Amino acid sequence: MALDIFKRLQTYFEPLVFIAVGVWGAILVLLEIVTFQKGPKDIVSQRKLIDRIFGKVWLRIDKMIAVRELETNLPTLINKAYGTVLEIGPGSGNQLPRYDVSKIDRIYGVEPNLNLHDALRATIKQNGLSDVYTIVPCGVEDSTKLADYGIRAGSVDTVTSVQVLCSVPQPAEMARELYRLLKPGGQMVVYEHVESEDLLSRWVQVLYTTVWPYAAGNCHLNRPTGKYLLEAGSWSTIDLETPKEEDAWMLFPRVLGRLVKWGAGGAK
Ligand SMILES: C[S@@+](CC[C@H](N)C(=O)[O-])C[C@H]1O[C@@H](n2cnc3c(N)ncnc32)[C@H](O)[C@@H]1O
Repeated sequence: MALDIFKRLQTYFEPLVFIAVGVWGAILVLLEIVTFQKGPKDIVSQRKLIDRIFGKVWLRIDKMIAVRELETNLPTLINKAYGTVLEIGPGSGNQLPRYDVSKIDRIYGVEPNLNLHDALRATIKQNGLSDVYTIVPCGVEDSTKLADYGIRAGSVDTVTSVQVLCSVPQPAEMARELYRLLKPGGQMVVYEHVESEDLLSRWVQVLYTTVWPYAAGNCHLNRPTGKYLLEAGSWSTIDLETPKEEDAWMLFPRVLGRLVKWGAGGAK
């Protein structure tokens, strides 16, 4: 019991470390702006400021996060991607080494944060994906821009979403839109952190979410993303791992797995 309380407290303080890194990122961005080194106009756009801060933070911690993910089933899941792939929010490209290129026709990486594009381009090159990977510079909610790249209803074999649905606007609507983009038999591969099942932890998540989005690129801790995905449409396969029991009170419980859209077609 005492151990449980200790673990809980430890978990509840963890986001403070990230917020501190976010404050450091904000100071760097403000210094760049006031000394006219880069993008003084960004100061009038909250979104651009949040993206720049997130760019600084993410490029410091992305490799560490990729190593942590090796303890999960995520690399195996990404390896199942095939055909036309829509990777939402690729960031600096942590998932790229995990794709099996022999099964892929094209990957569209929809990344709105321009501060991450240089790193993403470098990762594409390092992994020999230059011929198949296209960066789409917009939010995944921008369906007009996606259509310019041929990403329309029923055009995608695989959607990959790794820690992104926490940051998109209107996530329930977004889940329905991703379902619409999938071909019948197409699959959605997800690894997302979600709302906690524990009441106290949910309150803590809500509390953190008052400041967390500013430090973490508009990320929200308290989204029931698994539910949004399940309700997005009819799935023929639902292979989602729900958070383990000991995760119930954690601030970052995960939903991890694969959903297959109802209909003919499917993996090559
Ligand atoms: C925590 S990072 C995850 C990066 C990457 N998926 C990975 O596995 O390393 C979240 C990413 O989602 C992106 N993102 C935020 N809002 C988005 C949106 N509306 N559409 C697409 N991507 C978005 C961010 O720019 C960022 O690159």
